[in-house]
Order: sequence, then structure tokens, then C-alpha cells
Amino acid sequence: MSDTATIEFEGKKYDFPVIMGTENELAIDVKTLRGTTGMVTIDPGYKNTGSCESAITFLDGEKGILRYRGYAIEDLAEKADFLEVAYLLIFGELPNSEQLSKFHTDIKTESHVDEEMKKILDGFPKSAHPMGVLSSLTSALVAFNPSSVDVSSEEAMYNSIVRILAKFPVLVAWTMRKKMGLPLDYGDDSLGYVENIHKMMFKRPNKEYAKDTIAIDALDKLLILHADHEQNCSTSTVRIVGSSHAGLFASLSAGISALWGPLHGGANQAVLEMLQAIQDDGGDTKKYMAKAKDKDDPFRLMGFGHRVYKNFDPRARIIKKSADQVLGALGIEDPILKIAKGLEKEALEDQYFVDRKLYPNVDFYSGIIYRALGIPVDMFTVMFALGRLPGWIAQWREMRLRKEPIGRPRQIYIGENHRAFLPLKKR
Ligand code: ACO
Repeated sequence: MSDTATIEFEGKKYDFPVIMGTENELAIDVKTLRGTTGMVTIDPGYKNTGSCESAITFLDGEKGILRYRGYAIEDLAEKADFLEVAYLLIFGELPNSEQLSKFHTDIKTESHVDEEMKKILDGFPKSAHPMGVLSSLTSALVAFNPSSVDVSSEEAMYNSIVRILAKFPVLVAWTMRKKMGLPLDYGDDSLGYVENIHKMMFKRPNKEYAKDTIAIDALDKLLILHADHEQNCSTSTVRIVGSSHAGLFASLSAGISALWGPLHGGANQAVLEMLQAIQDDGGDTKKYMAKAKDKDDPFRLMGFGHRVYKNFDPRARIIKKSADQVLGALGIEDPILKIAKGLEKEALEDQYFVDRKLYPNVDFYSGIIYRALGIPVDMFTVMFALGRLPGWIAQWREMRLRKEPIGRPRQIYIGENHRAFLPLKKR
């Protein structure tokens, strides 16, 4: 293989190094492009642009492969728990029991959230979208933990990381409880990480909390499946905000906002609303398939298609199986699951979807499980954020440790050329 790529422009040739990743992915390194040629590349949506080298997550969209730090997502979802996966993503190796226990203890030490944060939450109307609330509360955490911004030492970085892993689930639970009119509570440090999250979210004021193993295991698996997905919109946001040396919490707050959009994490809410609308409309999936294919209709089949996967999203396979298991174990028959399966079958056999390689993505079935667990629809994307937290942290940490430069793309200006200023009276 040649280790350079040549660009020829106006009779001159310029060589650029070709770099190869550990999975043989190739890239042309254009770091010196502008300096040597005076040109930049243009690539809206970054469809062909690698923004960084990363050792965290590998995905092959053509083959439908997803691995965290080299481990197959199927193995991790089956055999690991969320806290182990968080450790793996952030620090690069699966923890031994001592490392895991220390990590969990360090997190528990930070599990309180300042009482004054409740006043901020109080300021939001009950109707506020939980993603907006969560993003604001995450940003507000900076004010209560100012030392988390300066991460010039490894120790300071570690402290910021365990602090947010401890406090973020409290914010998630508070966001949901406010919505549901339940009193705000703290967790219970004697419980496992995900069990504690479940308790913080669902504990009723007048009832003893009863451990629900089916729900906790389902939640654990969903969180693992969402934990990282390399340079997607929200992760790239976290990296780029963090590259200005804004602290971890501020970077995460920006990532939460990016995740909110219906083309990204917000799709899980949009999927359930779409499935509900189809059911309310008599369950005619063919009508909605036709709408999705009609170029004059803005409707898209939510939960279908992916920028990178041109094959089955491996997470969707696992979640579909899990939806069957969880609903079966909880004794729930959700007509929406039937509609989802019908839509999937039709889409996979439809030429429009086949030609464009549109397959169900992670969001297509996740909402059905969230709903079965009793999570309100507008909290679905918050659950995604909770799962994605370790991935965002890992990517932010990697970016800081690699001392990446501030993210600052170029543009091609297509506006007016220089013109003379006209005073107001003459316009
Ligand atoms: N329904 C109908 N048509 C679709 C869909 C869909 N869900 N997704 C893509 N297409 C069509 C487009 O209209 C386009 O058709 P054309 O070539 O005839 O113009 C073609 O497929 C390619 O689509 P793009 O939008 O160019 O693909 P892109 O990579 O930019 O977008 C995206 C990917 C945003 C995920 C898109 O597939 C989509 O909007 N899906 C629905 C929303 C969704 O489920 N988002 C969650 C993604 S997973 C995640 O973020 C966690």
C-alpha cells in the first residue's frame, strides 16, 4: 500500500501521508494542506472527515460491528455490568474486583448534590422538557464544584470524573421526579450503581422500595448499549467544547443539548410518538411507509437509518430481543411492539429502504422497554444521556490527555464581497 496520497492542482503535485488505524481504516492526513496548497477541504456534516484518532470505540457500519476498547458489544451487554463498562471506556481496561470496588466507593463518596440545586430545579415549569432541565442542571453543577474545571493533574481529572458519575444519576432522577410530582430524594450508597439509579427514580414516598431485578437488568443492558458510539453529534460536541478547556461538566451540558435533537438521541422519543400515532390512526403501517418514501412529505420513519450503519445496528438486534424478554417477564402486552415489528418487516423488504441501506437503529425498540419500565416518554432521551455519560467522559478525557488543539473548522465564504457602508438615511 502506498503511504502517501497525491493531490494535483494547477500543474503542481502535493503529497500527503496516508495513515492506517488498527482495524485497517485509511485516512489522508491533511494537517499540512492549507499551509502547502492554500486550500481547505469542505465536508458539510463531516461525512468524510475524521476529527481525531481515538482508541475507545470501533464500529464498522458496513458489517454491523461495535466494540468498546476491543470488546464486542454483544459480550459486554451479556456479561458485564454498566459500571464495569464505564470503567472500561474511561480507563481502557476492564477493572479487576479491587479496581471496581475502589471506583464505586469513590463515586459513592461524591453522591450528594447541593441542596441549593433543588432551587434551580424548582425554577423550571413542570412542563419543561427534561433534556433542557438536565442540560441546565449539569451546567449549574459547575457553580457548586468550581474545582472540577481545572483538570491539569490526573488526580483532578479523576475527581471530576467520579463526581459527575455520582451526581448525574441524581439529576436524572430529580428531573423525572419533578415531572411526576414526586418528592426529590437521594440515593442509597449500599446499593449497586444501577440498582441505586432505579431506586432514585422509582421509589414512592409511602412505600418501601422493592428491588426489581428484571427492571434493573434491563436498565443495565440499555445503559451499556448506549454507553459510547465514537464521534457522533453529541460526542463530537463534548470533544469540541472541551477542546476550549471548558470543564467536563460544561462540555457534558453541551453534549446533552446536542443529543436532544430528534435526528440524534431525541429519536427514541420520536419513535414512540410515531408508533403511538400509527396505532391511534388504526395501525395502518403501509400508509406510514408510503409517507416515509414520499419526498414531498417531511415524515421519516423514526428509528430507521444511520449515518454510519449501512447494515443492522448491532444494538438494535440486542434491544429487540431484550424488548421481547422484558415485556414477557413483566407480563406486558404492548400493541406498539407489534406495530414496530410490522414496520421493521415491511421496511426490510421494501426497495426504497433496501436501496438506501436503512435498517432499524438503537432507538427503534429502546422506547418500548423504557415504557414497560414506567419511564415517561419525554424522559427517554434523558435515559440515553445517562447511558452515554461514560462515553462522553472517556472521549473528553482522551481529548485532554492527547492535548488536542482547540476545535475550529474553516469555511468557504460565499457572501457579499466588500461593500461601502450606507448611512441609515440613505438605505
Ligand atoms: N425514513 C425515510 N427515509 C430516510 C430515512 C428514514 N428514517 N433516513 C434516511 N432516509 C433517506 C433520505 O431521505 C435519503 O434519501 P435520498 O437519497 O433519496 O435523498 C437517504 O435515505 C439518505 O439519508 P440522509 O438523511 O442523507 O442520511 P444521513 O446519514 O444524513 O442521516 C439519519 C442519518 C439522520 C439518522 C437519518 O437516517 C434519519 O433522519 N433517521 C431518522 C431519525 C433517527 O432515527 N435518528 C436516530 C439515529 S441513531 C442515533 O443518533 C442514536
